[in-house]
Amino acid sequence: MKVLFIGDVVGKPGMRLLSNLVPKFKKDEKYDLICVNGENSAGGFGITRKGALKLKKYGCDVITTGNHIIDRKEEIESVFRLEDVIRPLNYESFFPGKGWTIIKKKEKKIAVVNLQGQVFMPEEPATRNPFSVIKEEIKSIRKITPIIIVDMHAEATAEKIAMRYFLDGKVSSIIGTHTHVQTADEMLTQKGTAYITDVGMTGPFDSVIGMKPEPIIRKFLGNEEEQFKLARKNVRMNAVEIEIEDKTGMSKSIKRINIADTT
Ligand SMILES: [Fe+2]
Ligand SMILES: [Fe+2]
Repeated sequence: MKVLFIGDVVGKPGMRLLSNLVPKFKKDEKYDLICVNGENSAGGFGITRKGALKLKKYGCDVITTGNHIIDRKEEIESVFRLEDVIRPLNYESFFPGKGWTIIKKKEKKIAVVNLQGQVFMPEEPATRNPFSVIKEEIKSIRKITPIIIVDMHAEATAEKIAMRYFLDGKVSSIIGTHTHVQTADEMLTQKGTAYITDVGMTGPFDSVIGMKPEPIIRKFLGNEEEQFKLARKNVRMNAVEIEIEDKTGMSKSIKRINIADTT
């Protein structure tokens, strides 16, 4: 089983690149499953139902998300009614949507789970402890399939690495998202869990994590009123490619991908 996990897609520049790349991957049957984090797909802030449907039309099988979904509160109900569009499992149980999904590819069931960290993360949406929540839930998921992909949406490196130890050998891979900066620490544990602290972003790289630098600098200088603006230039797709042994659910390889938009 070959899986592509694409880092947070940021606004139109990121969506445009995926509209070129993902259909090609599908046509060439390059991957059995394509996942993308869509929390910034709507202009950099949140996700809309329309945007989620576009990502699915391009060929993304599962869309994970994170904290930015509350930037478009009015969309939340309808976005998470869509099949295989998930939000962090450890949001309060009344929050619309669900935290994991099962998708069938090549006669095999694959679980994709979304979690959110608690260290240096915004207070909204409120989260429950991701470690205690997944500790319970992983039992039910493993009864269905050993092929389990986890999106660990978090800021702190230590929290993501701790999750790697916590779920070692119990899941196929743990892919960090949220910081928008791809880390060079991809690895396979001895038990066969593939890991990367952050997969990176799909969007404009002449930016501060997707946004034009000037307003961000002015904000850091103390101007609270500053509005962030989506950057446009040097668009790239960050992702990881993971090869998983179907029977055991353990990973055989993980490879970083960084593709520039050449159109
Ligand atoms: Fe993000
Ligand atoms: Fe995020």
